[in-house]
Amino acid sequence: MNDTTTPPGPDEGFDLGGTDESLIRMREYFRVHGDTYRVFAPGRGAYFYVINHPEDIKRVLLTNHRNYTKGEGMDRVKILLGNGIMTSEGEHWRRQRRMIQPAFHRRVLEQFGALVGAVNDRYADRWAAKAARGEPIDISDETSELTLDIVLRSIFGTDLDRLKRELGENPFALVAKETNRDLKFAFRFRALGKLIQQLIARRRREPQDHFDFLAMLMAQVSRDTGEGMSDAELIDEVMTLIVAGHETTAATLTWTWYLVGRHGETAERLRAEADRAGEARPLALEETEALEFTHQVLQESLRLYPPGWLFTRRSIDADVLGGYPIGPRTDVFISPYMLHRHPAFWDAPEEFRPARFAAPDAALRHRFAYIPFSVGPRHCIGEHLAMFEMLAHVQTMSRRFRIERTCDEPVEYEAQINLRTRSNLMMTVTER
Ligand code: HEM
Repeated sequence: MNDTTTPPGPDEGFDLGGTDESLIRMREYFRVHGDTYRVFAPGRGAYFYVINHPEDIKRVLLTNHRNYTKGEGMDRVKILLGNGIMTSEGEHWRRQRRMIQPAFHRRVLEQFGALVGAVNDRYADRWAAKAARGEPIDISDETSELTLDIVLRSIFGTDLDRLKRELGENPFALVAKETNRDLKFAFRFRALGKLIQQLIARRRREPQDHFDFLAMLMAQVSRDTGEGMSDAELIDEVMTLIVAGHETTAATLTWTWYLVGRHGETAERLRAEADRAGEARPLALEETEALEFTHQVLQESLRLYPPGWLFTRRSIDADVLGGYPIGPRTDVFISPYMLHRHPAFWDAPEEFRPARFAAPDAALRHRFAYIPFSVGPRHCIGEHLAMFEMLAHVQTMSRRFRIERTCDEPVEYEAQINLRTRSNLMMTVTER
């Protein structure tokens, strides 16, 4: 343990959270105070602890995870997601996670190949039409709509098109169109629960073969209770999957095209790898995993711009972090953004270098210095689905187009719940 019992920190108080100002301050606090510091949060009347060392992060998320629940900021997320697996705790979380996990098994993801391929092809045709008219592409809007389409189809299957026909529009479109994640959005989004409830009721009434997440969740029975999920539970889990699966993936693809647009040699290598993978349609999970360079580019994009740039935990009992004792019910902040740029664990951390994820460099890195999908029991359940759709997307588009920026200006970030580009990213595409 350290000889002092309190870590260093700034004199002035500040409410750290999902805001731009928090990220600016965290960069400065890290520079001045190092791996472990604390900041007084006037809004809470308590100190928030920030940890930046991979060993401490490993302790909180993995080896001593039982001592932590999710922390500061979860109340707000609960308004949007209810009690789904992103926000729930304890026995309820464990039971739900166990029931949902099989839906993300490799064998299931393999069967989503046709869906992922069809959506990407449809967007590629749309991009081609715009290219023919000489129009630029709004990459932010396109990736947002595309990833929403994939996540909705993976959840609702053929019911999505039926809903669109019956209602004359996609009732979930607001998720991509509305970018604010405020109370107004939460209210409008939660209102969709009714629609999901009707869908569940219809499926219970008229059982049919569906291959989608909703069908898998409805079929699951808890090992402990012998019961399936209630309607309310199903609604919260479905809403959680929509939000968790959409914006993170969209932001990563936008950042990726931004980075590729700034690095011509990377774009060239992506096209070469995409050409080697060829035209086989749809690309199978295994084939996307063979896209080594594309994978490195996505990993590097997730390193520099992890959408989940900040997450929080709250201690149950006392613990020791960075050599300092922390009391029970202390909020601990972990920032993948800061960790992924930690100068002690990364060479030239601010530079875009996909090759750092190639062997042997990758093997030499501290395992907990890179956590875009988090680690431990509460790591992202959708990691492999996300990688699958992102690899397929980058391959499909690289094979068909040259994608270039319309200007050289760096794009600014916006750090809210997710890390996004502040303004929409415009690019030009040319058919190859
Ligand atoms: C690039 C894409 C993605 C990134 C970077 C990402 C990142 C993360 C991170 C960092 C967490 C942990 C948050 C925390 O502990 O506070 C998480 C949890 C979660 N993610 Fe993802 N995610 C992505 C895509 C997806 C997709 C496609 C889905 C589902 C369709 C998904 C569903 C979830 C769920 C349900 C959780 C909560 C798991 C639990 O607590 O048991 N994510 N994600």
